[in-house]
Amino acid sequence: MKLAKNTKSGSGDGCFSSETKFCSLVPDLSSELNEVHWAPLRIIRKSVEFLAHRENLKILDIGSGIGKFCLAAASYKSDAHFYGVEQRASLIERAEALKHDLGLPNITFLHKNFTQLDLGSFDGFFFYNAFFENIPGAYRIDESIEFSKELYDYYTHYLYNELSVLQPGVRIATYCSWDDEIPPTFKLQEWHEQGLLKFWIRQ
Ligand SMILES: C[S@@+](CC[C@H](N)C(=O)[O-])C[C@H]1O[C@@H](n2cnc3c(N)ncnc32)[C@H](O)[C@@H]1O
Repeated sequence: MKLAKNTKSGSGDGCFSSETKFCSLVPDLSSELNEVHWAPLRIIRKSVEFLAHRENLKILDIGSGIGKFCLAAASYKSDAHFYGVEQRASLIERAEALKHDLGLPNITFLHKNFTQLDLGSFDGFFFYNAFFENIPGAYRIDESIEFSKELYDYYTHYLYNELSVLQPGVRIATYCSWDDEIPPTFKLQEWHEQGLLKFWIRQ
């Protein structure tokens, strides 16, 4: 996947004003991949308003892919820091290249499995059903990693347990999730897009 040249634009905000402009940043990004695996910009914008509700918050995208959430969020909100954790090295490389090209300082990409992070060091989370590729028959980004229903269950239970012990006030925005990873200590605050986008706060 190649990056378009001459995209440097300071905050990069113009690149995130439409899906067409975002796709032009990554010319060989298939529209199918963008539609299925990377969150729509309108979802990102709405989620950022909820998650970055005051200054200096640390927001983690669990399974950050090509970095679309963090890149768009960082250009919309310069007073928050956005972290993306991603298991595929190739996607982290592309995300880093875009971050560099756009000159966005308030992003950190981490090439790790999310289970290697201390989730207690973040104020909020974005979660676009990152584990769904493990469900048999799911449309996959590529075949570079292993998939299984057991991994789906393992990651989902792991996230549920980690979220259970976070401090009150922590926020999470879920998109296209079955809510399996959300413990009862999180209260649903708002939902949008026929319930596909949900905002939760730890009580
Ligand atoms: C549906 S994509 C969402 C990407 C991004 N959040 C967005 O909205 O544009 C899910 C991503 O999560 C990553 N992922 C899945 N399980 C993961 C894990 N256990 N640790 C880190 N990344 C993971 C996948 O490799 C994939 O890139």
